Amino acid sequence: MNMHIPLRVLQEGEEAAVSSFSPAQDSAVLADNHGRRFSYLRLSITDVCNFRCNYCLPDGYQGTDRSGFLTLEEIRRIAAAFAAMGTRKIRITGGEPSLRKDLPDVIRTLKQTPGIETVALTSNGYRLTQQIRDWADAGLDQLNVSIDSLDPQQFKAITGHDKLQEILDGIQLARELGIRHIKVNAVLLKAWNMNSFQHFFDWLRTTPVTLRFIELMETGDNGEFFAANHVSGDSVKQTLLSRGWTEKPRGPHDGPAQEFSHPDFAGDIGLIMPYSKDFCSSCNRLRITAQGKLHLCLFGEQGYELRPLLDEDDTQTLQQHIRTLLGNKKTSHHLEQGETGATRHFAMLGG
Ligand code: 5AD
Ligand code: SF4
Repeated sequence: MNMHIPLRVLQEGEEAAVSSFSPAQDSAVLADNHGRRFSYLRLSITDVCNFRCNYCLPDGYQGTDRSGFLTLEEIRRIAAAFAAMGTRKIRITGGEPSLRKDLPDVIRTLKQTPGIETVALTSNGYRLTQQIRDWADAGLDQLNVSIDSLDPQQFKAITGHDKLQEILDGIQLARELGIRHIKVNAVLLKAWNMNSFQHFFDWLRTTPVTLRFIELMETGDNGEFFAANHVSGDSVKQTLLSRGWTEKPRGPHDGPAQEFSHPDFAGDIGLIMPYSKDFCSSCNRLRITAQGKLHLCLFGEQGYELRPLLDEDDTQTLQQHIRTLLGNKKTSHHLEQGETGATRHFAMLGG
């Protein structure tokens, strides 16, 4: 049975010992009664994607309606409301966000929102080499790029695009342009990248990025693929520990990834294990779809319409509405029982 968690708003100064927010801005941080604080928003700006990742959109993007995504002004209003409630980091997601021509304007708008300290972007890397300068100029702080295999043929087989080298060059350029934090996401896929797993370690010896292995998650559309390809994150964790990697201490506001480092490697490794027992207890994020629906969980049954409240610049009403909706956030997903909620694939929700 699903439990509903009543909303609790932290008051000024409360839990100051674990807070990195300045008290002046921390008057009403969104939190639930399990002590989870929502300082991180994942904002999708399009659900269109030009890749065909075999675990996500194997037949490519099928949508017909490519309009109707949040406008720049709606994005500005969302950011202002969340910032006023303690959100400090916003990640732009998709689909593939770089397919929107106004992506640099979106980055700039978020970065200029008082209270927002970090603007991050998740991209498949397709336009990285051409566009990273514009993103950096607009104020991008963090970049996540998906690279599911470092073998060019496998990369092409997984994504449908022969782009590996170009994307690696783009990452190098992002580093040269001073993007502080670069993470590379790789979904663990039994039949598609586990036999070339060593490539990842060879690359990390000299490349100072965080490589995050993501356990494949079941979604509404990928049941068969999931059954054939799921690899437990715990098996990778055991491999890391046996090779001398050590787990890094966790900060109070860290999300669900477990991070590991090794003295002989320039890069770190993160593990995202959504099937592990306590995964949801460190949840610090909320999601908004490109059509303006608030999703309280990646695997929730529904999104909550925010758009009617975005017509006017009334941040107080919007904030109150979001606070009320947060009362519906459940303690945990039930993914281990195959309950994928309404999520057919991650392009809908930005992962
Ligand atoms: N399971 C795990 N990760 C997924 N992603 C997309 N679909 C899935 C899935 N079913 C990843 C993408 C990207 C991130 C946003 O989510 O590869 O790195
Ligand atoms: Fe791949 Fe992300 Fe596009 Fe899905 S949304 S097909 S995971 S690049």
